[in-house]
Amino acid sequence: MPLRFTHPYIASTEMDAVRRAIESGHTWGDGPFTLSAAKRLTEMLDAAHVAIVTSGTDAAELAGIVADFGPGDEVIVPSYQFPSAGLSVALRGATPVFVDVNPRTGNLNVDHAAAAVTPNTRAITFVNYAGVNADTSAIRRIADEHDLIVIEDNCHSLGGTADGEPMGRLSDLVLHSFQASKNISCGEGGALVVNNPAYVERTEIAREKGTNRDRFLRGEVDRYTWVDLGSNYLPSDVQGAMLDAQLADHDIIQDRRMSAWGSLNDGIAEWAENSGVEIMEAGAGNNHTAHLFYVLLPDQTRQRAFIDHLAARGVPSATHFQPLHTADAGERFGRSFDSGEHATSFASRIVRLPMHANLTVTDIDLIVDSVTSFEVAN
Ligand SMILES: Cc1ncc(COP(=O)(O)O)c(C=O)c1O
Repeated sequence: MPLRFTHPYIASTEMDAVRRAIESGHTWGDGPFTLSAAKRLTEMLDAAHVAIVTSGTDAAELAGIVADFGPGDEVIVPSYQFPSAGLSVALRGATPVFVDVNPRTGNLNVDHAAAAVTPNTRAITFVNYAGVNADTSAIRRIADEHDLIVIEDNCHSLGGTADGEPMGRLSDLVLHSFQASKNISCGEGGALVVNNPAYVERTEIAREKGTNRDRFLRGEVDRYTWVDLGSNYLPSDVQGAMLDAQLADHDIIQDRRMSAWGSLNDGIAEWAENSGVEIMEAGAGNNHTAHLFYVLLPDQTRQRAFIDHLAARGVPSATHFQPLHTADAGERFGRSFDSGEHATSFASRIVRLPMHANLTVTDIDLIVDSVTSFEVAN
């Protein structure tokens, strides 16, 4: 089997759970597996409410509805982020305001975010890139000072901790993705985790096609009807079965990822040190999630040469996000607060190595040998 860049782990009970979901006949949304997965996440994250949805992008879109963004509103979005972050704001007719990132972590520059706040700002959004904690406490302080909503993208950081708390605890709304490359996956899927109880009812309604169907299912109303904006964000219970089985194996998945991450780090640390290459920072005092393993090359020329060098040795690697502030849609729907120079530089220097729970010792040896045979100088 060739070395894969990413490859979903199959949980011990996953096949059986999928079969049972299909055989049960309850393949539509919010069946027993989806409800069980929501319960697991609620307990794990100590959340007020967890809405399992169809993707991380849909979680962002749902958050935009729940937060009631509209024309004239501004929402702070890191320049180095996945497109859904800008898209979900633009879909509400609001304006994403792009703010540059920390040159070493790719996470939001908190000082710039504070300076970007205007009377029209409604929310700060940010991601814990690669599962490494952004400065969540500082972001929460800025938001509280200006009465802003905090939307945290935890698509890379499920299971990570910051200052002893699960990442995401300080934000009002938190996005998760369970797309196939994520630590926990069900093909395509996601969750909107609600920490602020003020948003629970709106989340239930917006997720259920703008209806009060959840209240109907709990016997609180006689029939359900259209009450607000929303869409259908419910995944099938077959996906719920995959998700539930994966969540049950979360510790195993994390152990395998952390072990692979540690071996890669140990294997290339000396080469990186001697070559002027920066290995991703794990975040002092916080537990990252081994979602990605990346290095920063000195410049784009060597980024490309490194990717070619690895490919020639059978090691797939990749760059990552293209900065939002210079993307066509970013320029059309948003505005830049600053130059975004660090986002641009980060994107042109990053190379991601294979990282998943199925990496073997042989895979890791091949990656380490291939990486350390690259001569960075000149
Ligand atoms: C940081 C981040 N946010 C959001 C998403 C979107 O998630 P999905 O693919 O489930 O829509 C991704 C997808 O890779 C991501 O990396």
